[in-house]
Amino acid sequence: MQIPEWNEQYHSKHGAVAEALHVFIKEGFQYYTTSQNLDKISILEIGFGTGLNCFLTFLENKNNPIRVQYTGIEAFPLEFLEVQSLNFPSLLKSSEVPFLKMHNIPWEEQSSIDSHFQLTKLKRRFSEINSEDEFDLIYFDAFGIRVQPELWTEEIFKLMYKALKPGGVLVTYAANGSAKRALISVGFEVDRIPGPPGKREMMRAYKR
Ligand SMILES: C[S@@+](CC[C@H](N)C(=O)[O-])C[C@H]1O[C@@H](n2cnc3c(N)ncnc32)[C@H](O)[C@@H]1O
Repeated sequence: MQIPEWNEQYHSKHGAVAEALHVFIKEGFQYYTTSQNLDKISILEIGFGTGLNCFLTFLENKNNPIRVQYTGIEAFPLEFLEVQSLNFPSLLKSSEVPFLKMHNIPWEEQSSIDSHFQLTKLKRRFSEINSEDEFDLIYFDAFGIRVQPELWTEEIFKLMYKALKPGGVLVTYAANGSAKRALISVGFEVDRIPGPPGKREMMRAYKR
């Protein structure tokens, strides 16, 4: 199932790669892995969607590989035809083999994309996440608050807080006041930091 107005969101996202590189790779993955000496990291992605963030993380991890356990949550997976029409591998001048593998692997079980990268895709709603102290880093990439206000709430952020290990970090492209207040009210410490090109700010939230 794909809801038409969401489709629009994917395609109207100009500069999706530049934005994802800034928000999730630079301010999430690089921030977390360079602030401590890690040999592994577990990442939860809220909204697997096109797999772009997953693919960018995979490519980034090739530079100085550590073991990545990546879990992507998605209630409405893309059709394979839609996936094939995405040009991320050529845009990123990289092989499409791992990208297609990310989409072809079965749901609900862990698969190896390469020797350092394990991916588990879970087909479920964000409200059904019940992990506890499991993840180092969350990429919170839900559609915006105007499209899906119910996802930027205390109820959902409580699940995020619980899913993170102490010391864990959540990054999101959003910086609006109500999302910030909801994050703080469930226990996060929140920084507004410079956003990607065209967006003044984004947020990074910490479970201390
Ligand atoms: C902004 S998109 C994610 C983009 C994705 N991170 C990427 O790299 O392409 C948000 C995703 O959340 C999914 N979604 C929306 N509501 C959801 C819900 N309640 N539970 C699970 N997935 C949901 C949508 O289908 C969509 O793929």
